Amino acid sequence: MRQPTRWETRVDADPQHSHWYVERFRRMAADGADLHGEARMIDAMVPRGARVLDAGCGPGRVGGELARRGHTVVGVDVDPVLVAAAVEDHPEGRWLVGDLAELDLAAHGVDEPFDVVVCAGNVMTFVAPGTEVEVLRRLGAAVRPDGRVVVGFGAGRGYPFAQFFDDVRAAGLRVDVALATWDLRALEPDSDFLVAVLTAGGGRGR
Ligand SMILES: C[S@@+](CC[C@H](N)C(=O)[O-])C[C@H]1O[C@@H](n2cnc3c(N)ncnc32)[C@H](O)[C@@H]1O
Repeated sequence: MRQPTRWETRVDADPQHSHWYVERFRRMAADGADLHGEARMIDAMVPRGARVLDAGCGPGRVGGELARRGHTVVGVDVDPVLVAAAVEDHPEGRWLVGDLAELDLAAHGVDEPFDVVVCAGNVMTFVAPGTEVEVLRRLGAAVRPDGRVVVGFGAGRGYPFAQFFDDVRAAGLRVDVALATWDLRALEPDSDFLVAVLTAGGGRGR
C-alpha cells in the first residue's frame, strides 16, 4: 500500500490546509509579491523552449511562470486540490496528480525526457518518510542524460542537508552545485536553505 506523504498527513489533520495554501499564494500574487525567484534561476539554466518537470508543483507557482516564459511544463503533485488550482490559474502548463515516489510519466503519455526538473518549495521535506531516495531516483530518471534536477528546501524541517547529500548519492545522482539561495548565494555551514543542482551518476561531486 502506498505510504501517505507528510503533506497528505497534514491535509488529513486539517482538510482546509490545501485551500488555505492556494488562497495564500493567490493573495500574494494579487498583492504583487515576487514569487518567481526559482523560475528565474531555472529559466537561466535551460535553452529556450525547454522541457521542464515541476516536481511537487502545488498550485503551479514555479511551473506556471516557466510555461509563460515559453517552456513546455509538466507539473506533478499528489494533492488534487492544488493540481486543480494549477489547472485553473496556469492553463499554459500540463498538471497531473501523482506521487513522485511512484512517478510514471509514460502512463500519462509523457515519453520525452526533460531538460530540467525543478523541485522547489520544500517538497523533499513533505514526501513520505523513507521514500526520499526513490523520489530522487525517479526525478533523475526523468531528465536527459545531461539534464539537471534542482532541489530546494529549508533546514530545520526534519531532513538534514547531510542526509540529503547521502540520499542523492544513493539515488545515483551527484551534486554539481550547492547554493544557499535561488539567487545563487554560496552555501555556508550555517545556511538555513539549500538549492542543489544535481546531475546523473558518477563518483564526483559531494
Ligand atoms: C509547500 S508545497 C510547494 C508547492 C510548490 N512546489 C511551490 O513551491 O509552490 C509542497 C508540495 O509538495 C507536494 N508533495 C509532497 N510529497 C509529494 C510526493 N511524494 N509526490 C508529489 N507531490 C508531493 C505536496 O503535495 C505539496 O504540494
